[in-house]
Amino acid sequence: MKIIAYNTNQDETPYYNQFSRELGVEYVTTTSSLTEETVSLAEGCDALTDFLPDKSYTEEIVSRLSEYGIKYISLRTAGYDGVNPDLLARYNIKLSNVPAYSPAAIAEFTVALTLTLFRNLQIVLPRVKTQDFLRTGMVGKEIGKQTVGIIGTGKIGLETAKIFKGFGARVIAYDIFPDDTAREVVEYKNTLDELYAESDIISLHIPLLPGNRHLINSSTIAKMKDGVYIINTARGGHIEPESLLNALLTKKVAGAAFDVYDFRGHDIFGQGKEGEILTDSIFRELFSLPNVVITPHIAYNTDEALRNIVKISTENILEFMQTGDCKNRILMLKSN
Ligand code: NAI
Repeated sequence: MKIIAYNTNQDETPYYNQFSRELGVEYVTTTSSLTEETVSLAEGCDALTDFLPDKSYTEEIVSRLSEYGIKYISLRTAGYDGVNPDLLARYNIKLSNVPAYSPAAIAEFTVALTLTLFRNLQIVLPRVKTQDFLRTGMVGKEIGKQTVGIIGTGKIGLETAKIFKGFGARVIAYDIFPDDTAREVVEYKNTLDELYAESDIISLHIPLLPGNRHLINSSTIAKMKDGVYIINTARGGHIEPESLLNALLTKKVAGAAFDVYDFRGHDIFGQGKEGEILTDSIFRELFSLPNVVITPHIAYNTDEALRNIVKISTENILEFMQTGDCKNRILMLKSN
């Protein structure tokens, strides 16, 4: 069986080599995204695996994939925004994701981002590298004294809540489907407005769906405490960038950290842009603020997670081929 793997990077190579041997599949890997120029790489392959697809799966491209013989698309991500399973179904292509390759990876990173902001590490670390060892203006805050509001208490949100709880923080949460196990860790609020009103730190852990795009916008930010911190390791589309920028400039929001961002145009995370003038002016302005921490979608990126991502995405394809179905199959977009 031959699988075309788009959007790969060299960190995954050892795992492609390992699972090619162990699972008996042939991978064709490319660091390119799926585009009209690269779609022909899929010719002669049975399945396609992709990572963080960015607006690639148009009808034109999907119909060509179908002509080339692609029957399965196995995303190497938990989120599947950007791919429409209904469109794929029209071309008899089945879709799967990797729902849980390592929730701890993202949870630990979320807390690391919060600590970075709370202890000014984004300012201190570059300063020390220039031999500036002054400590003025570096007063931090303690996480254990805060109320943390977790939006979405699924696999990642719950792991994140447990770590914040370990710091001694009060952890409140909102989820459209509250979970009894999570109740042992978090205090559920009935509405997002209640969570906004009480949280010192708000952390997002929900999938991006048509109903929650720009959930964080100027009117929801207005409901938050003055001096709130916002952490986003879920999807960029959850936050309306201009509203966040304005709230940071007025100090309504004391700090923000994000691993994902709603770019105007294409997502630049994962690309080297040294020396270029970035075209997204809101991003440029956010980027320049001292109380903003940006990482290029790396929360998932641990040894453990990469291994699980390659293994499970391949097993999904094998399961489809052997049984016609897959436990990680995505049937349709759920709207809420
Ligand atoms: P999950 O499916 O286990 O949990 C999501 C939770 O959100 C569920 O409990 C669901 O009921 C809840 N939910 C959905 N819509 C909601 C809404 N509008 N309001 C409140 N609650 C809502 O998903 P998991 O594994 O915890 O992942 C969460 C998200 O994290 C993914 O969808 C993905 O976008 C993002 N992610 C980011 C990564 C990164 O590297 N930065 C890596 C992996 C996932």
